[in-house]
This record gives sequence, structure tokens and C-alpha cells, in this order.
Amino acid sequence: ERALRVAVLGCGTVGTEVVRLLTEQAGDLTARTGARLEVVGIAVRDTTVPRADVVDTRLLTTDASGLVRDADLVIELMGGIEPARSLVLEAIEAGAGVVTANKALLAAHGPELYEAAEERGVDLYFEAAVAGAVPVVRGVRESFAGDHVRRVVGIVNGTTNFILDEMTSRGVGFGEALADAQALGYAEADPTADIDGHDAAAKIAILASLAFHTRVSIDDVPVEGIRYVTAADVEAATRGHHVIKLLAIAERRTTADGDGISVRVHPALLPLEHPLAAVHGAYNAVVVDTEAAGRLMFYGQGAGGAPTASAVLGDVVAAGRNRVSGGRGPAESRYAELPLLGGDEVTTQF
Ligand code: NAP
Ligand code: HSE
Repeated sequence: ERALRVAVLGCGTVGTEVVRLLTEQAGDLTARTGARLEVVGIAVRDTTVPRADVVDTRLLTTDASGLVRDADLVIELMGGIEPARSLVLEAIEAGAGVVTANKALLAAHGPELYEAAEERGVDLYFEAAVAGAVPVVRGVRESFAGDHVRRVVGIVNGTTNFILDEMTSRGVGFGEALADAQALGYAEADPTADIDGHDAAAKIAILASLAFHTRVSIDDVPVEGIRYVTAADVEAATRGHHVIKLLAIAERRTTADGDGISVRVHPALLPLEHPLAAVHGAYNAVVVDTEAAGRLMFYGQGAGGAPTASAVLGDVVAAGRNRVSGGRGPAESRYAELPLLGGDEVTTQF
């Protein structure tokens, strides 16, 4: 029986659930992949920290670099830019397929990583980087490859949606709702990335790049988060039969100078009957408008260990199958360089 050597980088909220699925679903994963997925090591910062029972502590190491050099598949779940970027590049250089949930890394250094993977002929999958369990990366990248995307509008940050929802439905204060989101494993290690909209900006940069076949970096996305949304704002919205949601928007626009795209993140007032108004808790939803398919909505759990691990494992199986068959996953398509328009051109109809 063929075996694939799997290195897991990070054993926090997501990493622990990935290790759990790799262990508990081992038989099914072998059947679906065509090879046994053998976890050869789990890189962490501190090997002495108590771990969930499912984690075999003999596999823990602080030598992430040593681990990636000896793996067929590398699953990066550490977060942050460095050392994640260097480790992913090392893995690619060593010929390993890579699966990552790290939107901050992709939105800042995606082109460098895609090019390295392209050059080396290995897979780079990242379904879990946008909207947790919701298969929106695959959807936007593959399902509309023969269509023309006009607009992508979504709630792509579970933490802020959870906070706004708690403030609206239960009258909970901002700080308490944030603490609950952290305890439930929704928030980033530094939750300011959630609150100030940078996490949503990274995700919409990734979706915009896929939807419009161009390259959008997090630095291109004007952002306003929910830090200044008060209980009084929430009450006023409720009285007016509206709800406040943090929206991430990417849309094609035509100006006198030609075609371009506008990408931005900001809180918005939505009428209660709007489909995105019904997205509660840490759920995410992304509405995609295309020329031929019309309007579609992707919806599901956008944050949390288990839902995110589900998306990671889907990618692991895809990358593992390719490894077994000698195939490759989707390559970056890049045939348009659409100029970015100013973020002040706000559409009011979502
Ligand atoms: P987390 O709970 O903070 O876990 C991070 C893990 O990485 C920890 O095990 C930590 O080790 C390890 N780590 C961090 N820096 C390291 C370093 N320099 N060397 C070795 N190990 C290091 O984070 P998480 O919530 O699981 O998120 C992981 C990734 O998934 C991030 O990119 C995040 O954006 C993404 N993501 C998270 C969610 C979610 O709902 N949480 C959803 C989608 C995507 P120690 O345990 O020793 O500290
Ligand atoms: N912190 C992120 C969120 C995790 O709340 O949406 C999922 O990417």
C-alpha cells in the first residue's frame, strides 16, 4: 500500500481538528486518496503545552523546517506571514504539495507562492482560507471558469458576524461578544485582524483574484471594520428594520477609462429581507453574480476548528490524489490585468 508523508504545521484550533480527522477518518481518507496518509510530524512553538488526546505528542516538534523537507504533503495551519511563507516556499521547493488555511499569507504573498508552485509543478490548495467550510474558492475558481463574474458580495468573517449578531439579537456588549468568539475558536490569534476588517480584506482579495482572473493584494482593499459600531447603532438599525453586516465586496465596473474592479470591506445596513441579513452567528455567505449563471449564494460555517478542518481535508484528499496519479490541481489563471478603481465608488444595491 502506498503511503504519503504528511507534515502538519500548527496544532491550534484548526490543526487539532485536522489531526483528529486524519486519525479518525484514516481508513476513508486512504480509500479516497489511494494512499495511506501518514502524519510524520506536527510542528508547534512549544511541545510542552498540553494537547487534545487525539494528538500523538511523540509527533510534536519545533523543527518545522526539518519536517517540510521530508514530506509529500505539507498542511500549513500556523497562521501569520513568517515563518509560514518561508516554510511553504521550502515545502514547494522540496516538491511537496501544500494545503494552507492562511488567508493573510495568500493575500500578501499569493503571486510568489503560486509562481513557485507552478514552476515546481506541485499543488497549492487553499479552500479553508476563505469562509471556512464553505466551498467558495472551488466554486468561484472552477464553476464559473467559463462564465463572466460581475460581482462577489459576502459576509466572510465569522467573528465579526458573531459579534454583530450577539449585539443585535441578545443585546450583548462588544467586548463580551468578542470574548465568546475567541473562546469558540472563531477569532484570529490577534483578533484585531477580525475587528478591523483585515481578515475579510484578505479573503475578498483572494476571491477577487479568482473571480476576475487578476491579482488583488490585501493592500489594494480599502477597509473599515466594526470597531466603531456601537450598541446605539445596532438599536437604530433594528428600529428601522435593518441589520448591520460587515460586507466584503468585489465588483466589475466600467468607467470612461475602461473596465476595472472595485474591491472593499465595510459595514453596511441591510434590510431584514435581504438574504445576507439572515446569516447568523459565525456563519458566512457569499453571493456571486455572473452573466450566464445569474445569482448564486454559498452559505455555511465560516469559522471554527471542525468546519475549517473539513475544508482542509478536502484539499488534502485532492492534493493526495494528484500525488498518487501524477496530476496537478488547478493552476492560477491570469489573463486579465484589470485596473483597481477607488474604493469610494460604493454600490448601494447588494
Ligand atoms: P491557532 O489556534 O493560534 O494555532 C496556531 C498553531 O500554530 C499553534 O499550534 C502554534 O503552536 C503553531 N505555531 C504558530 N507559530 C508557530 C511557529 N513560528 N512555529 C511553529 N509553530 C507555530 O490558530 P488557528 O485558529 O488554528 O488558525 C490557523 C490558521 O488557520 C491561520 O492561518 C488562520 O487564519 C486559519 N483559519 C482559522 C480559522 C478558525 O476558525 N480558527 C478558520 C479558517 C482559517 P503552539 O500550539 O505551540 O502555540
Ligand atoms: N477569524 C476568522 C473568522 C476565521 O472569524 O472568520 C475564519 O477564517
